[in-house]
Amino acid sequence: MPTIKLILVAGARPNFMKLAPIMKALRGHRNVTAVLVHTGQHYDEKMSGQFFRELDLPVPDHNLEVGSGSHAQQTAEIMKRFEPVMLAENPDGVVVVGDVNSTMACALVATKLQRTVVHVEAGLRSFDRSMPEEINRLVTDAISDLLLTSEQSGRRNLLAEGISEDRIHFVGNLMIDSLRQHLEQAQRSQILSTLGIGDGKFGVLTLHRPANVDDEQHFSELLSALGKISETLPIYFPVHPRTKMRLESGVYRLNGHIHLVEPLGYLDFLCLMSRSSAIFTDSGGIQEESTVLGVPCFTLRNNTERPATVEEGTNILAGTSAKSILAAWEASQQHREGRIPEYWDGHAAARCVDVLRKHFGIARNG
Ligand code: UD1
Repeated sequence: MPTIKLILVAGARPNFMKLAPIMKALRGHRNVTAVLVHTGQHYDEKMSGQFFRELDLPVPDHNLEVGSGSHAQQTAEIMKRFEPVMLAENPDGVVVVGDVNSTMACALVATKLQRTVVHVEAGLRSFDRSMPEEINRLVTDAISDLLLTSEQSGRRNLLAEGISEDRIHFVGNLMIDSLRQHLEQAQRSQILSTLGIGDGKFGVLTLHRPANVDDEQHFSELLSALGKISETLPIYFPVHPRTKMRLESGVYRLNGHIHLVEPLGYLDFLCLMSRSSAIFTDSGGIQEESTVLGVPCFTLRNNTERPATVEEGTNILAGTSAKSILAAWEASQQHREGRIPEYWDGHAAARCVDVLRKHFGIARNG
């Protein structure tokens, strides 16, 4: 019976919780050798190291240590450093997840070396090409051989772009596999007492998209709207490094009760979200996690590539102006019960492995 070798690519924080369940499932398969490559797009303890430990990800077999740079520099550097790894490891295929620069860069290298490219979380579209992630999604999907989707919109979008049906497989949401595996453990986190949060209600805020934090005037407007909300609901704000740089370089007034904290680890953040009354974010993954946790999520964007979270879950597109955010907050006082989208059930990794097994013609485990 044939055996195969796959390279799995980890690049930035949101990749780690999607990779952990599939890495575990593949490493447990006797006919698969799974090699982990960390590009080093995110590299420090708070953005990377603690996630590897908490998610039980193995030490990467290769660390490309690319660090930061402009999009062109970072993408090019990842490609330059990934190609020799591909040549040395000679895998049958490469698994990339999500929409960060590492996803697109490694998919490009692998396809040019004529290896099977597997894109996990394929087909999501914001239809907003000013987002760097949308470009990464479009390019990666166009060159991938197997497109594994996390929600039904993925299939529709891919078919509309002319991708043939036999390449598309609905496997569900890997990020939710991680959430379900770790939620009980996360409940034992001491983060609420560490942050001095008492018994009262509170909100959680994350912001890092260039469109929201790079322009001083716009970022100030967002902070002032959130400051108003925080007068009645104190808000805890783990600050992403990009956002921290902006806060330090501009003149921002934080009004109300917005508490800045360091980026949190996976378990602490999961605990914080699960106990909160509202989440304000421009992240992709947090829209999905809040839907599963049943916590109202105010997405500080005008669009989402994850429509299931709005149509079925607890997500509300609040826009990016102070007026639209405050209006969404006012209108939301009667809480809408959401439901959990199909296949966000904790078994997405098993379905991914099944697709890979059939594609490469390898036997079931055991
Ligand atoms: C990247 C992804 C984005 C994802 C986000 C999650 C792309 C195009 N963007 O954006 O899709 O939602 O990660 O966090 O791939 N930095 C640190 N420590 C780190 C990592 C980064 O201090 O461990 C600093 C860098 O020096 C850089 C800034 O944070 O200046 C931003 O990092 P970068 O990789 O450029 O993109 P993100 O904004 O994090």
